[in-house]
Amino acid sequence: MSTPPDPSNFTSILHENRVFKPAAAFSKSAHVSSLAEYKRLYAESIRDPERFWGRRANEELVWKKPFKQVLKFKAPDAKWFIGGKLNAAANCLDRHLEEDGRANKAALIWEGEPAPNGKPGEERTFTYRQLHREVCRFSNVLLRHGIAKGDRVLIYLPMVPEAVIAMLACARIGAVHSVVFGGFSAQSVADRVSDCGAKMIITADGGYRRGTIVPLKKNVDDALRLTNAEGRLIAASIRSVIVLRRSNHDIHIEEGRDYWWHRELEYVGDRHEAAVMDSEDPLFILYTSGSTGKPKGIYHTTAGYLLYTKLTSRYVFDLRENDVYWCTADIGWVTGHSYIVYGPLANGATVVMYEGAPNWPEPDRFWRMIHRHRVTVFYTAPTAIRAFMKWGDEWVKKHDLSSLRLLGSVGEPINPEAWMWYHEVVGGGRCPIVDTWWQTETGGILISPIPGATPTKPGSATLPFFGIIPEVVDDKGDKVKANEGGKLVIRKPWPSMLRGVWGDKQRFRDTYWKEVPGSYFTGDGCRQDKDGYFWIVGRIDDVLNVAGHRIGTAEVESALVSHHSVAESAVVGRPDAMKGQALVAFVTVKTGIRATQALRDELRNHVAKEIGPVAKPDDIRFAEALPKTRSGKIMRRLLKQIASGNEVSGDTTTLEDLSVLTRLNQSEE
Ligand code: WT7
Repeated sequence: MSTPPDPSNFTSILHENRVFKPAAAFSKSAHVSSLAEYKRLYAESIRDPERFWGRRANEELVWKKPFKQVLKFKAPDAKWFIGGKLNAAANCLDRHLEEDGRANKAALIWEGEPAPNGKPGEERTFTYRQLHREVCRFSNVLLRHGIAKGDRVLIYLPMVPEAVIAMLACARIGAVHSVVFGGFSAQSVADRVSDCGAKMIITADGGYRRGTIVPLKKNVDDALRLTNAEGRLIAASIRSVIVLRRSNHDIHIEEGRDYWWHRELEYVGDRHEAAVMDSEDPLFILYTSGSTGKPKGIYHTTAGYLLYTKLTSRYVFDLRENDVYWCTADIGWVTGHSYIVYGPLANGATVVMYEGAPNWPEPDRFWRMIHRHRVTVFYTAPTAIRAFMKWGDEWVKKHDLSSLRLLGSVGEPINPEAWMWYHEVVGGGRCPIVDTWWQTETGGILISPIPGATPTKPGSATLPFFGIIPEVVDDKGDKVKANEGGKLVIRKPWPSMLRGVWGDKQRFRDTYWKEVPGSYFTGDGCRQDKDGYFWIVGRIDDVLNVAGHRIGTAEVESALVSHHSVAESAVVGRPDAMKGQALVAFVTVKTGIRATQALRDELRNHVAKEIGPVAKPDDIRFAEALPKTRSGKIMRRLLKQIASGNEVSGDTTTLEDLSVLTRLNQSEE
């Protein structure tokens, strides 16, 4: 299924040998203050993981009923904290009111994007008490609409506080939320509803994005009208749609199906007793791309996920009571789930949330906000960092960033150049950088420096978190020598490991547990240096990482061939200075169809309609035929080479004759 990592990807990080020791001043007051302490804790965590996690679970979580057993594992099935009862939302909210004295502490500081009419962005702050109240009220709205324990609810909202409120309200009543990123299309919404059988969609009239309105409610209307090949409604399980007023533009309200969020609140009280959930009750489903055409619903359960995101938030971001913590991810990705909502709120942190883009209205938006809110911990993605580098240092230097004390990176390998820029220009040379490696499937950060303890090397995610045993292995599953490339696997289960692919046990087994039997296969290529540091090279399956967004090539291919002009297509990645990888689609058209620039535009829009603007190919290259092996397999490696070569020219009259290359290269594959 997967090929070993391409050694040429190693070049930029192979020669990287700078080491940055944590500053003494930082270490002194950090949760873990030396490498020796990290090593001691790590050794303890893997010597007896059940003891380690069992103790932590008792200390960190508020239980309604204690668990009886820490772990039951028979690959691929893991169950953690068996018999325990708790509520995730109560652990994020109620406990801070009751025992931890944080009732009047800011839980959420939100800034909206400036409206398209130039109206400045609003600001709203919720204390823990206020957030608790809003979540209780909305929990009652869900109940009033007949949402019960275990029901699935789709959330399709902009980056507004109500997105957090909706997630926590679901958790509070025991419903399973599935957040769909606002950059996905009506078709994607319908497919996800159908896959998980959601009863309700929570959306907004529209969201703001770089001065325009994203028509979320219209997309939902379209989604609810879409039919399958047999003419049946795809999203037939939906009973009601709750609509938040955000953009204030005209939308359609379907009587008996659509309800305004603010109106519904008028019918309910603000008291709600959190539902008692089992440790292993599903908390959420999050769809993500894999190497087939259909996204998979990764699901996580309650106790293990919450414990792991809580602990990693505290140790990796070195969270302290006075921190103002800002993660710029969208709530539609796992980073938003784990490190905007569950992890930080379980710690009682103050979380900053921003609705808009980093360069709207100007490219200093983030720095302005850091200054204004005195942000201390800032967590963003390499693709954003590279964009900031391009926009120029002066945008950063205009603002006082002296409040920052820690920087984080996530989503893709960070190139040493971007790392150094982040360190010097944003961090003023004084802030440790935590390059955090993890996945939707892992629920939380598995490989990352512990600031204050781990010396960092630009481009390396460094060492495993407590209880995590990553290994770089060859095709036989044996550990490779230091500095050799291989596949990254995780040897033992950890509390926030995915529990499955929703409704598809076989796919869960095949994707993660077959490649290296008994171990969790990450799909990433990796190298471990002689100090034991992990250097992630990127995906080795047919999944691309475009600007930090995970996109399966098969998904884009199936969107392309669903267009009436397309006979066949193959999608590959090519390196991109800004986005990490860009999407290149090779397309053969049906007989009689002309391959024109207009068709190219049409196909890009078609993909946006089928999947969402996030998946639009950067290049479309028309070919007479796709290069194939004798057995008919598309030669992707060859296409990758071609894609990385010359840019496609504006001239669409010459179709590429790749069959010649096939003949030349056939012996290779
Ligand atoms: C894939 C997972 C983790 C939340 C956001 C993405 C890549 C992620 C790093 C990093 C190198 C990274 C991997 C991984 N990735 N973080 N720090 N260094 N690569 O979650 O969409 O599930 O994607 O992102 O390839 O497998 P995701």
